[in-house]
Amino acid sequence: MNLKKSQLIFTLILIAFMSCHAQKPTPMNTKNTIEQKIDALLKRMTVEEKVGQMNQYNGFWDVTGPAPEGGSAEKKYAHLRKGWVGSMLTVRGAKAVRAVQKIAVEETRLGIPLIIGFDVIHGYKTLSPIPLAEAASWDLEAIKKSAQTAAAEASASGINWTFGPMVDISRDARWGRVMEGAGEDPFLGSKIAEARIKGFQGDDLSAVNTIAACAKHFAGYGFSEAGKEYNTVDIGTSTLHNIVLPPFKTAVDVGVRTLMNSFNEVNGIPATGNAYLQRDILKGAWHFDGFVVSDWASLNEMITWGYAKDKREAAKIAATAGSDMDMEGYVYIEALAQLVKDGVVSESLVDDAVRRILRVKFELGLFDDPYKYCDETREKETIGSSKNHEVVLDMAKKSIVLLKNDNKLLPLKKEGQEIALIGALANDKSSPLGSWRIAAEDDTAVSVLEGMQRYKGNTLTYAKGADITTEKATFVQEVVINTTDKNGFDEALAIAKQSDVVVMVLGEHGFQTGEGRSRTNLLLPGVQQELLEAVYKVNPNIVLVLNNGRPLAINWADEHIPAIVEAWQLGTETGNAVAQVLYGDYNPSGKLPMTFPRNVGQIPIYYNYKNTGRPTNKDNNVFWSHYTDVEKTPLYPFGYGLSYTTFEYSNLKLNGNSFKMGEDVKVSVTLKNTGDLTGKEVVQLYIRDLFASVTRPVKELKGFELVELKAGETKTIHFTLNKETLGFYDNDGTYIVEPGDFKVFVGGSSITTLEADFNLID
Ligand code: BGC
Repeated sequence: MNLKKSQLIFTLILIAFMSCHAQKPTPMNTKNTIEQKIDALLKRMTVEEKVGQMNQYNGFWDVTGPAPEGGSAEKKYAHLRKGWVGSMLTVRGAKAVRAVQKIAVEETRLGIPLIIGFDVIHGYKTLSPIPLAEAASWDLEAIKKSAQTAAAEASASGINWTFGPMVDISRDARWGRVMEGAGEDPFLGSKIAEARIKGFQGDDLSAVNTIAACAKHFAGYGFSEAGKEYNTVDIGTSTLHNIVLPPFKTAVDVGVRTLMNSFNEVNGIPATGNAYLQRDILKGAWHFDGFVVSDWASLNEMITWGYAKDKREAAKIAATAGSDMDMEGYVYIEALAQLVKDGVVSESLVDDAVRRILRVKFELGLFDDPYKYCDETREKETIGSSKNHEVVLDMAKKSIVLLKNDNKLLPLKKEGQEIALIGALANDKSSPLGSWRIAAEDDTAVSVLEGMQRYKGNTLTYAKGADITTEKATFVQEVVINTTDKNGFDEALAIAKQSDVVVMVLGEHGFQTGEGRSRTNLLLPGVQQELLEAVYKVNPNIVLVLNNGRPLAINWADEHIPAIVEAWQLGTETGNAVAQVLYGDYNPSGKLPMTFPRNVGQIPIYYNYKNTGRPTNKDNNVFWSHYTDVEKTPLYPFGYGLSYTTFEYSNLKLNGNSFKMGEDVKVSVTLKNTGDLTGKEVVQLYIRDLFASVTRPVKELKGFELVELKAGETKTIHFTLNKETLGFYDNDGTYIVEPGDFKVFVGGSSITTLEADFNLID
């Protein structure tokens, strides 16, 4: 054996030995290496390049906000080439993303890859139900899977960062964006935030099919005064800490990598320039180590709000307050480097923002392979796969809420029936996609008509009756409700008359909810209510299927129509999901994540209200907290929803009636399926802290479990209450648990049937 050969063998053995014994990267040492790499990179960066990382541009086509001043494709390309862009949004498709990434990686001095953001809100091309609908499932596993599927499709199309989930709590159905959140409750909202973030990010952010999530909009956006979009938010500290912030806190606790701030001001300070929210709470108390992106040009909007006098001041305020990235605002790129050079903004603040952005890029693995999300073969195979369709169909069925079912009109018989299907939304393949469907092709939803046509045993006849709008609606334009035309009524009435059952699909056009779509009227738009009443006169045997992105005021329907199904906007598989529920192939189990008012004047209406000093009509006079013209109760409460079977609750037990601080309170309850079908029920647990140093709501959700039972089956359900669920935030934002008297309620909605008491002692 000559020397060279023996050396080679020795080297090979050594390599083999080293690779077997090489230290597996633990999260800690990966973390350290990432930080070292960031240190090294930061040392090489000019101030302009650092600020470039904090600059995000929209792509070259779709806009999701007003066109900002000073932006042009030429300028964007020029800045990209200089390394002055850290991220782009709405550039999508493996090929298009590769093209911009190539500029960043191959044409700039340091070759730092872009992070590519997109609004993957409820799916990418294969759409799940709108987020509010998904929340109605209370099914955290299904919601997680839906986000996972969205991430798989988006990541195959070049995207590695979604601007979701929106975790804004809202009590105002006038606000168009309630469709995008999880409803009115911070406990449910937190659980759903966690499920979505885990779905998007998975266990390994560097995997090719996971993407960074973004909890938005930090904070308070859902409390826009009067439900008017982009409006002032004026909330007290108790609402801020107990209602608005908890889902964000959960998001941070479960490792969300980014947050987006918001357009609104909170108590006079725009969220984008809000140091209390972003520095003290988020990056201080909560130790968030990801980054904060602004909302679309929200840095500039501080000027319009009257908070900053020009871009220079806006840049100073936002950077100081902890906004790390400027979305399509041209504020940082135009002003921040100079502010640093002038000594007005410390370079260490910029370094901190850049470190956060680079950290997420490293975690995604973009430095190892900037093109990892740009594989066109994977894109073709993943998008629209039958597996993805199965997931969104499953999610869609789980999101449906049965609001009323007199005389067991539902499920429909599968044979021998004449069925009339009426309503513009019944044959609409676009509205069910909701308003956040920028990547999905128009008209790709399965319509209710198509879904019902798959059931061949009945005679199905369709008539539109009336349009909702006659104009083509788009993501950026107002939906014009211009329909007064009732010429189609006669045809609808004719088919209704000769039918055994009429299914009417009514509600909101898909672009009537979402950003920029606040409404003051929550009745059925256009002439749909008139159509409903006209059909009712000739055949009252109606199943009303609602398609909408927010609670509607449907008092008349509730009084007259025997069966009502809340089917929201259920995404790509809408028609199949609705048909399977109507025909009983799926037994609905959804529960409302938001209270339905009797009329719009009751808003804000929510289950976790405060008792007031005069909650009841004690002396039969007017001096109590109520309205004189409508009951104070909602039409349908939070947590409400029926099934084709029935459930009975009994035997609510606690493991004691007095507990020491820190001890677990164990709660159990018996649930029985008293009907004759297998069904699922969301068992809900609420508490009330009877006397506290800050008044507490009459009920607060603190636990829930989705339980499936066969006909006649009984199960005992267990919950635990502890210091995490029994306390609240005081007006300084400190979490406290106070001794005293509590009530526990359990039932199938926020109007619970069973209650028990206990006492917490010091
Ligand atoms: C919305 C954000 C969204 C952003 C980018 C804004 O108008 O408020 O939620 O992520 O546009 O599309």
